[in-house]
Amino acid sequence: MSALSSRIVSAQEAAAHIRHGDRAGMSGFTGAGYPKEVPGALAARAQEAHGRGEEFSIELWTGASTAPELDGVLAGASAVHKRLPFQSDPTMRDAINAGRVEYVDAHLSHAAQQAWFGFYGKLDVAVVEVAEVLPNGLLVPGSSVGNSKTWLDLADKVILEVNSWHPRAYEGFHDVYYGTRLPPRRTPLQLLDPMQRIGDPYLRVDPEKVVAVVETDAPDRNLPFKAADESSRAMADHVVDFLRHEINHGRLPKNLLPLQSGVGNIANAVMTNLAHSEFENLTAYTEVIQDGMLDLIDSGKLTAVSATSFSLSAEHAAHFNENIESYKGRILLRPQEISNHPEIIRRLGIIAINGMVEADIYGNVNSTHVLSSSIINGIGGSGDFARNAYLNFFVSPSTAKGGAISAIVPFASHIDHTEHDTQILVTEQGLADLRALSPRARARKIIEHCAHPDYRDRLQDYLNRAVAASPRGQHTPHLLREALSWHETYQQHGRM
Ligand code: COA
Repeated sequence: MSALSSRIVSAQEAAAHIRHGDRAGMSGFTGAGYPKEVPGALAARAQEAHGRGEEFSIELWTGASTAPELDGVLAGASAVHKRLPFQSDPTMRDAINAGRVEYVDAHLSHAAQQAWFGFYGKLDVAVVEVAEVLPNGLLVPGSSVGNSKTWLDLADKVILEVNSWHPRAYEGFHDVYYGTRLPPRRTPLQLLDPMQRIGDPYLRVDPEKVVAVVETDAPDRNLPFKAADESSRAMADHVVDFLRHEINHGRLPKNLLPLQSGVGNIANAVMTNLAHSEFENLTAYTEVIQDGMLDLIDSGKLTAVSATSFSLSAEHAAHFNENIESYKGRILLRPQEISNHPEIIRRLGIIAINGMVEADIYGNVNSTHVLSSSIINGIGGSGDFARNAYLNFFVSPSTAKGGAISAIVPFASHIDHTEHDTQILVTEQGLADLRALSPRARARKIIEHCAHPDYRDRLQDYLNRAVAASPRGQHTPHLLREALSWHETYQQHGRM
């Protein structure tokens, strides 16, 4: 890395470049490619400042969720006052839900462009992890690209973390698009195939802006996924049966259309189980590559994947790192504004499969909140994909918390995806194809196919009474006093 080797310093010295009140854009996406050293040193600085009775906190932007070494330490040290665009760290989540951190839960395709538009204010510093700095100063990204390109371009100062845990062979796995222009000078994205290259294999940085380089060999977060159980296998079977049905009706080609699979255990399990299906020569244009998708590549069924990041368990990350050369040409990581770009999602005709928290009887979907008020993670890319996909699936077990909560409710307690966007709901009970159905027809289908038997009759009773009580409201009948009563009952009695 001769180009920037004179700037190598300790994490503490690097963190000293970040001031109270700064806006810091850090790399990282779903626990991959986030800086591992500087955030901890920054948290220690904040704690020292607080000990002296001084204020110290930053506004933190990332690609998406990170890990305890970033979100966790900074939230634990009360060193963040505002956060965007996605998180999933328990300490950060608690700080947001306790009102100590303001959270801007943005669509992941929006964050970079809204930063460029100036909607978020000026970016003071970028802290970006890379696998390598080449002698000519170009940067080889590691396990994610996320918003790194935009943060490097926009920030006044840049701190690089060079992480040797990422194999050197990462060079060639990335496609960083440098053609983005702002309206009204935008041009079409000429991306016609998931594996088409439209950018460079490297990130660029103005060397004059690099104030510090920190070296590390710390691994990504690499959390395990829940093993696929009977319920997730049933959901995967429903999805596979439905895809077969669409092929038989001439609405999908035999090798489907490019797949997108969301974050979380359920979306991962569905991918794992697709490996046992008859589909061949699949492709993916997705946001994250979780274990299930790597399994699909290993099984030979998935031939090409475009994403912005990995999100692997420790075993799968080790397997990938050891066999990285064998994946070359089959995986491409892009900036999240491209992996989640509505124009491309629509053009390629993506089949989107995302987890949900709950859906209501009309098909409004909540991906983010418990009981209206508490955030779990955020909307992530689910909106980018759901609204623009060829087909979208939302999947969830029909109950949560040991059956105490129904995932199908009269009215969703928070709505991320409206009934206008959602197409196919799937639980272990069955699948509701909502395409071209009116709200009341949707409700009958969702109750019959997706609700758990313990809650089905009560949902049907709610619908019947809502229909009877709304002579002038037959389009989407509701009982306003009862619409959120299931959530209230759970809050008071621990069961819906
Ligand atoms: N009410 C309350 N809690 C619920 C719930 C409900 N209706 N449904 C699920 N939960 C809880 C689960 O109990 C679990 O909590 P626990 O960890 O304390 O047991 C947690 O939510 C996660 O549920 P799980 O069943 O393991 O599903 P998951 O890991 O597939 O995650 C989402 C589901 C919705 C949280 C996840 O998909 C998500 O964050 N989605 C939004 C972002 C997104 O879709 N991104 C994809 C774009 S590429």
